[in-house]
Amino acid sequence: MPLTVLNHALADHIVTRLRDENTPPEQFRPLTRALTHILIAEATKSLPTRPRVIRTPLEEMEGRELDVEIVAVPVLRAGLGMLEPTLEMLPGAAVGYVGLERDEVTAEAHSYYCKLPNMAGKTAFLLDPMLATGGSAYRAAKSLYEAGAEKVILLCVVAAPQGIARLEEAFPSLQIVAAARDRDLNAKSFILPGLGDFGDRLYGTF
Ligand code: PRP
Ligand code: URA
Repeated sequence: MPLTVLNHALADHIVTRLRDENTPPEQFRPLTRALTHILIAEATKSLPTRPRVIRTPLEEMEGRELDVEIVAVPVLRAGLGMLEPTLEMLPGAAVGYVGLERDEVTAEAHSYYCKLPNMAGKTAFLLDPMLATGGSAYRAAKSLYEAGAEKVILLCVVAAPQGIARLEEAFPSLQIVAAARDRDLNAKSFILPGLGDFGDRLYGTF
């Protein structure tokens, strides 16, 4: 399973500000937006393209355009913070939603919503900022593959080794693009050093 961890000064700067416990939601949201732009730029780097002849104001030339059908799928609720910046960069993408929530005691993800467009042959950009145990991403990716997705690319802010290993074993072809790879999980399955509960920090539900 290909894992890409961003190697980018601005991304490191943004992740550090997201991690800082003193960063309030009104800053956390635009920081998430900016980081998602960088994640999308990395995740789309090698997508297939086809030639397209256009005219500049000066002459005709052959350019290139994306040759892939994309579906952006945020995992509710934290992944919603990544949806708009994704659509800013990929305005032609369709959108599906997967609602998952971890049990506070067992950290087991349970599904409460799933609404997907036609996924057959599509490339899914799965948007979930935190990959901890991998339970949520596993369930979301399974739904996408079962619905016919040809390719799934998970975009996340912080990925823990346990979640990476779980996805690697379950879906060898799934790609992960993460802004940071962290050290471990604590006893409550929170990422260390992490940034806390992403959804709470995004929406101020402390
Ligand atoms: C968070 C996060 C992921 C999940 C990761 O969501 O956004 O979906 O935890 O943990 P895992 O890898 O151990 O499954 P949470 O369940 O807190 O819901 P929320 O986004 O509604 O806050
Ligand atoms: N979900 C979060 O929001 N943060 C973690 O550290 C783990 C799961």
